[in-house]
Amino acid sequence: MKKIIIANWKMNPSSAKEAERILNGVKKTAVRLKKTQVVICPPFIYLNNLKKIIGKSANLSLGAQNAFWEVEGAFTGEVSPEMIRNYGGSYVILGHSERRALGETDEIVSKKTLTCLKTGLKTVVCIGEKIRDEQGDYLVFLRDEIRNSLNKIQKKFLKSVIIAYEPIWAIGKKDTEAMSPADIHEMAIYIKKILSEIYGQESALAVPILYGGSVGGGNAGNIIKSGGVDGLLVGHQSLKPENFSEILMSAENF
Ligand code: 13P
Repeated sequence: MKKIIIANWKMNPSSAKEAERILNGVKKTAVRLKKTQVVICPPFIYLNNLKKIIGKSANLSLGAQNAFWEVEGAFTGEVSPEMIRNYGGSYVILGHSERRALGETDEIVSKKTLTCLKTGLKTVVCIGEKIRDEQGDYLVFLRDEIRNSLNKIQKKFLKSVIIAYEPIWAIGKKDTEAMSPADIHEMAIYIKKILSEIYGQESALAVPILYGGSVGGGNAGNIIKSGGVDGLLVGHQSLKPENFSEILMSAENF
C-alpha cells in the first residue's frame, strides 16, 4: 500500500497566488514519488486554481477540509461533496478537531461521511483525544468517537475510509513535541482493534491509519518507520514547500 501524506493547509494562505506558489513548490518533489500518494487540502476557494497546476499527476491529488451532508439546496454557506468533486477534489477531511471545537458532533461527522462516501470521495475521518489521563479514559473516548463517527457507514463503504489519529494535545507544536513513534504504534493497533470489532478484521486491517500532530522533517521518517501508520496528516509544516518535501522524501524512502 502506498503511504498517504496529506497536507491540511487549514485557513491558509491568504491569496490564490501564494497557494499556487506553495503547490508549485510541492509538485516538484511530489511528481517524482513512486510509493507515496500526496494529497493537498487547501481552502475550498483555491481548489479550481490548484486543479490546473496538478493536471494529471497520478500521485498528487486535491482534497477539501470539510463538506456538507446534503447534496444541494438551501444551506447558506455550505459546500457539497459533489461541488468538491467537480472542482477537482478526490479527498475530504471530516471531523477535524478544530471543527469539532466549533460544535461538530460525531453525529454530524457520521452524516457528512456517508454523503461524501456516496459521492465517491476518499474520506479522512479525524479522531483524537484532548488529553491523556492516567486512568486511560482517553481510550474509551476514542472508542466511542470512532464508533459514533462511523455510525452510518456500512462495510461496503469502508474501502474509501481513512482514519486520521490526531491527539489534540500534540497539534501545532515543534516536531520534537509530537507523540512518540512507540505511542503512535500502540494507538494504531488500538484503532484497528476498534475497527475490527465493528467491521471484522479483514476489512478493518485494510483501512489506512494516519497520524497527525506536529509532524515535520525531523520526525516524519521515524513515525512512518516505527509508528505503524500508513501515512501522515500534516498541518503547519505543509505550508512550507521545502519542509513538506522533506516529509514526502522521508515517506518515500522509509
Ligand atoms: P500541525 O501539523 O500543525 O500540528 O497540525 C496537525 C493537524 O491538525 C493536521 O490536520
